[in-house]
Amino acid sequence: MSIRITRRGALFGASGLAFAAAACSSGPRRPEPEPQTGPFRHGVASGEPDQSSVVLWTAITDDAGGEYVFQVAADESFETIVFEDREERTYVTSNAISTFKVIATGLEPATTYFYRMLFNGISSPVGRTRTLPVGAVARFNMAVCSCSNYPAGYFNAYRELANTPDLDLVLHLGDYLYEYSADGYASEEAERLDRVVDPRHELISYGDYARRHALYKTDPDLQAAHAAAPWLMMWDDHEVANDAWTTGAENHNEGEGVYEERVYNAMLAYHDWNPTREPEDQIGTARIAEIGDLATLVVTESRHVARDQPMDFSTFPIADDADPDDPANRQAIADWRANEIGRDDREMLGAAQIAQIADAFGAAAGKPWRLLGGQVIMGRVETPDMIEALPGWLKFIVSKSDDLAWGYIQRSQFDIPFNLDAWDGYVAERERLYDAVREAGSDMIAFAGDSHNFWTNQLMDDDGHRIGYEFGTTSITSPSPFERVPAPGVSFSRLIEDKNPDVIRHNDRDKGFIRVTLTPEAMEADFVTVSTIRRRGYTAGSDSRWRVTRGSDGLEIDAI
Ligand SMILES: [Fe+2]
Repeated sequence: MSIRITRRGALFGASGLAFAAAACSSGPRRPEPEPQTGPFRHGVASGEPDQSSVVLWTAITDDAGGEYVFQVAADESFETIVFEDREERTYVTSNAISTFKVIATGLEPATTYFYRMLFNGISSPVGRTRTLPVGAVARFNMAVCSCSNYPAGYFNAYRELANTPDLDLVLHLGDYLYEYSADGYASEEAERLDRVVDPRHELISYGDYARRHALYKTDPDLQAAHAAAPWLMMWDDHEVANDAWTTGAENHNEGEGVYEERVYNAMLAYHDWNPTREPEDQIGTARIAEIGDLATLVVTESRHVARDQPMDFSTFPIADDADPDDPANRQAIADWRANEIGRDDREMLGAAQIAQIADAFGAAAGKPWRLLGGQVIMGRVETPDMIEALPGWLKFIVSKSDDLAWGYIQRSQFDIPFNLDAWDGYVAERERLYDAVREAGSDMIAFAGDSHNFWTNQLMDDDGHRIGYEFGTTSITSPSPFERVPAPGVSFSRLIEDKNPDVIRHNDRDKGFIRVTLTPEAMEADFVTVSTIRRRGYTAGSDSRWRVTRGSDGLEIDAI
């Protein structure tokens, strides 16, 4: 049987859609993508698998009605069909795009399946998916990714992710798309790369968000990544608007309408265009995946359930150019961190979600691994002293030309958090999360996106207990905050590593994702890099590889 979870029919006229033609550059690794014609121009996708079911997704262009059949088979040639969902529909509209979702049920655990849709006998591309295991698991392969910004470059990292053999699950930690207009963030090279966004204006309405999702889904590399394995996805801020919290966002103003309506529209489009199970309120709470006896994975919602407005430096208690050697100034900063940033009532996940994590991890105490998929970096990171690090000529130019940047550089002489939108801006709740994990008799491996950099961090609570380790994935394409600072010879990664005892590795430049291999004995993380996002050809490499094992004194980490 099947449970149909959405079928909204014709969403919008295709006439308003500008499908980007295939780009003109090509590389040595693979041929130019075929121009996309026919009814299936947005690929197929599967997601949120459990031990007996998985969500299937596709979209049809020029949907004029007829017969729609989702099929799941045990083999790639579809000789052994194990699930079928068939529907007939007559349309009065034409020239439209429809999205389709179904939950394929009655599947076996830890099994690879192939799926497709037949539309009036025309087959979609074939996707590969896999159910979660039960009982003993010898090995589980994941890819962890985030921050795919279409105008910023080609999704070579998605292509490389799709090349991962025996992939069990893709964990996407958010910023699947960006809401900006065609001249917005990271769009400087979009024209040259033939990756100008559609619509060209900032996303506000349901139709806007749906069109942007449709554009992204025309990307052949993203399609390959979806077709390679089931995805477990959670949004970060940009699926609605930059630096979002429960009642607003940095990139939302009154002229753009009622914020809650914007969130609803964005979430509706997100679920229409992705292989997700849909919570009744479109948002839900943490998603939990039981990976047999090997691991429990909890993926948190950190934007719309509970998050308080991110702090900014408007509350900075002293002048930007105050003397860093004056003890009174140092004390003022310490008080600000304790009493403003450290305010006890500031939340990112909320008490209910922390209890959910504690319950899931407590129940998984006998498993080797408890994994937390978050959005923003959890480890403690302070900004290194940029006055000391940057060349004099650069400081001179910035001081004369960019008040905001100059303020930031001056404040960096004090010990200030690197990113107040990350957990460093919600320190009291971070401590409550750490306490809950410890009280559940647990430790954890955390994954994060958002920063557009790779990180290996140890997670330490205020009493010096190690709660676990964190692996932060870099972006698929979004720019690193450091990459446009013209400071030749300055390694920001080295500065951040030297400044922060909890940061074991920071990579401030590469694009890519993390390959994760779990076995009962070890968790390995490979920071996979791609050589370029400026053309379609690329070579893949590795920034670093890490192995976490369990010693007599808890979790241990080694570079391998
Ligand atoms: Fe991002």
